[in-house]
Order: sequence, then structure tokens, then C-alpha cells
Amino acid sequence: MPEMSTALDDVDTAFLRAWTDQRATTSCGLWQDATDLGAAHTAKFARLADLAGVRSGARVLDVGCGSGGLLEYLAVRRDAVAVGVDRSARYCRDAASRSGVIDVECADYRDYAPAERFDAVVCAQLLEHTTRYSEARAGRHLERYRDFFQRLHDWTRRGAKLALEVLAMPDIRWSTPSPAQQRLIEGVGGHRCFVRPSDLGASCLGLWQPTHSVLLRDDAVRTHREWLRRLTGQREELHRRWGHDLVTGYERVLRHELDALHSGTAAVALLGFRRIDPR
Ligand SMILES: C[S@@+](CC[C@H](N)C(=O)[O-])C[C@H]1O[C@@H](n2cnc3c(N)ncnc32)[C@H](O)[C@@H]1O
Repeated sequence: MPEMSTALDDVDTAFLRAWTDQRATTSCGLWQDATDLGAAHTAKFARLADLAGVRSGARVLDVGCGSGGLLEYLAVRRDAVAVGVDRSARYCRDAASRSGVIDVECADYRDYAPAERFDAVVCAQLLEHTTRYSEARAGRHLERYRDFFQRLHDWTRRGAKLALEVLAMPDIRWSTPSPAQQRLIEGVGGHRCFVRPSDLGASCLGLWQPTHSVLLRDDAVRTHREWLRRLTGQREELHRRWGHDLVTGYERVLRHELDALHSGTAAVALLGFRRIDPR
């Protein structure tokens, strides 16, 4: 099994809660009707649930569920049977303790074998972790994405829908990144590879039909700004509790990502898919 990124990726959830929302959500918020981070994340949860066509009683899987905020939203606000998988034991503990959440399995999704199929799948900012930049340069990312789509197809029922959120570099040419793209790649360490949405379109052929695609810039900029504002506003306290390296590491990555989002080098993509069912 190829190595996947772990740096800055399995931390004390109390540290995350200190500068993200109360649910330690580490993906984009939607700000149109929101004035704070928590409300922005709830609005994004609603968008993902809509994209995945979640109805009352639906069995829904969140791949890379993190601390489980979306799972709780699905269970409590959408009356869904909410199931999660995440490779981080700490995040899984948080997620499993949330209201209404049925089952959280602590596993790499590639080792996951659900006992029952799902009506819908949601997945926010996991795919970046499946590929290193060096692998994308060598064209190996497509097989990773294909494997991801194949697994989700195997785990779902006829008529299922999928909602994906990814950090995207829409214009990247893998062999010749622009200077701004190169700065982003180096800034996030090369181990977490932003996704080119057109690569997903090529990888899901015959398995999932793309139905929706939107690139968010302003929402992503605002989410990152808010994270940085909260992180830097309590820097001393965070250094004291969790150490200089962890806090500085997060701050550096967030600043690189914010620069890239601001300049249009990166964006957050929200994508919807419908399962292609065999006749
Ligand atoms: C950026 S966080 C997003 C968490 C959550 N979806 C959210 O929106 O807050 C990425 C999550 O994916 C999980 N993850 C990364 N690679 C994984 C893998 N191969 N299998 C399962 N979980 C994985 C990490 O542990 C982490 O919780």
C-alpha cells in the first residue's frame, strides 16, 4: 500500500477546535448567509447533503469523516443513518461520540469493507491525501482516483449519489507547474496533492456520472482567513499547550494555501456525481 500523508494530519482535536469551529471541521465553509465559522460549516454540510441527495432514512457514508461534524448534521438534521470511516483514531473517537452517529470505523478507506451498501456518500477534503505531488507528476494519481471511485461504486446501491469536496488546482500541468503552483506545492510539503477536477472526470468514467461542479474562491479565502485570525490571535497560548512546531507548521501551510486561493492558483471544488448502474 503506498504511503499516504500523515504530517499535520492526526493531531489533538482540542488543538483544532481552538481555531476552527467547535466541531473541528477542517474543510471549507459557505458564507453567503453565515456570519461565523460554525454557521458557514453548517451551510456547507447542507450543500453536501443536498448534492448527495440525502433523504430521511438514507444510509450515508462519510469517507474521511474527521471529527464527525458532517455525520452529526446528517443524523440529526437530515434523519439519515450516518456512518463514517477515518484513519485517525483521535478523530474517530470524536466522531463516534456525536449525536445520532451510528458507526465510525477507524481504518484507511482502502481497507474498509462495509457490511451493508449505502444510498449516498459524502467526502470532504480527503482525496488530496491520497496522492503525493511526485506521484501526480508521474501520472500515478489517476489510478488512485479510479480506485477511489471503484470502491465507492462497490459500496453503494443503485441510484446512489456522491458529493465530493476537494482542494483544487484547476489549471495545473503536472510536469510544468507555474511558479505560483510550485510555491503552493512546496508550501504544503508535496505530500498532499491538490486535485485537478478534470482528472476526476477522467477517472470516474463508467462508474459515476458527474452532475455538478463549482469552484469556490471567496468562501475558501474567508474560511482560511478566519482560521488564521483565530490561530494567530491565540498563538502564545497555542504554543504553550501544543508546542511551537505544530502551531507554526499549521500557520505556514494555511498562509501558503490562503495566498494560492487569493491569487486564483487554487480553489475549493464542490462536485456531485450519480452512480452509473449496470443494466
Ligand atoms: C482535511 S481532513 C477533513 C476532515 C473532514 N472531512 C472535515 O471536513 O472536517 C482529511 C481527513 O481525511 C482523513 N484521511 C486521510 N487519508 C485517509 C485515508 N486514506 N483513509 C481514511 N481517512 C483518511 C484524515 O484522517 C482526516 O480526518
